Amino acid sequence: MNYSIAIDGPAGAGKSTIAKSIAQKLEFIYVDTGAMYRAIAFYFLRNGIKPEENQKIQECIHEINITIEYEGDVQQVILNDENVTAHLRTEEVGNMASKFATNRDVRLKLVDLQRNIASTKNVIMDGRDIGTYVLPNANLKVYLTASSTERAKRRWLELKNKGIESDINEIEQDIIQRDEQDMNREFAPLRKADDAILLDSSNMTIDEVVNEIIELYRKGLIN
Ligand code: CDP
Ligand code: CDP
Repeated sequence: MNYSIAIDGPAGAGKSTIAKSIAQKLEFIYVDTGAMYRAIAFYFLRNGIKPEENQKIQECIHEINITIEYEGDVQQVILNDENVTAHLRTEEVGNMASKFATNRDVRLKLVDLQRNIASTKNVIMDGRDIGTYVLPNANLKVYLTASSTERAKRRWLELKNKGIESDINEIEQDIIQRDEQDMNREFAPLRKADDAILLDSSNMTIDEVVNEIIELYRKGLIN
């Protein structure tokens, strides 16, 4: 039987950083589902298709083939035979991903892929709807959050460390807008699953969050 850990929560809560670290420690596969939504957004951006063009999206969704590969333990996203991983982490692609992620056809396509991966491997998967929709029977579910001010600060610092100056207030507004979009969409919105454990990391270091989740995992193995 495969073991699955679902980590959901809003932008900048620390999901991917924490999930990557836990995957290494437990020797699980880390699946970044946000990168898949970003790859779809990248495809539509490149082809001049807008999020509100539902008919066009439906017509060309079958032309998109996304696969996931691993270089060591680093996830690579392959879009129609092209490795697009390096293009996905911009704010523009993130904001567009959130818009295209409201589309039902887009979600159904990616959910299939995500469930297939989890059916063959021990996974820690992060996103918005993993515990509520993609893997409702996940062995451990965590809803990871932090205040929008703290999340903006983290993103700002992350950019600064890459040599990019940015406006922290603008980042916070972007984050709030994306949260609203993700929480209020009709299909598979972001919300805490009833059986998910809520972790507010506003005042926690990365190591503290990682250790807490590993502790929950170990307790779950005993019970
Ligand atoms: O994946 P998600 O958008 O939820 O967040 P992330 O990209 O993993 O984390 C955003 C930033 O916050 C990264 O630079 C992390 O290093 C940082 N972080 C932190 O400072 N403290 C935490 N407890 C968690 C993340
Ligand atoms: O790293 P960050 O939290 O900023 O975003 P991400 O995880 O890369 O996801 C980008 C966008 O994709 C999110 O704002 C969501 O709208 C969407 N997404 C989703 O709808 N469902 C998922 N399972 C993962 C991402």
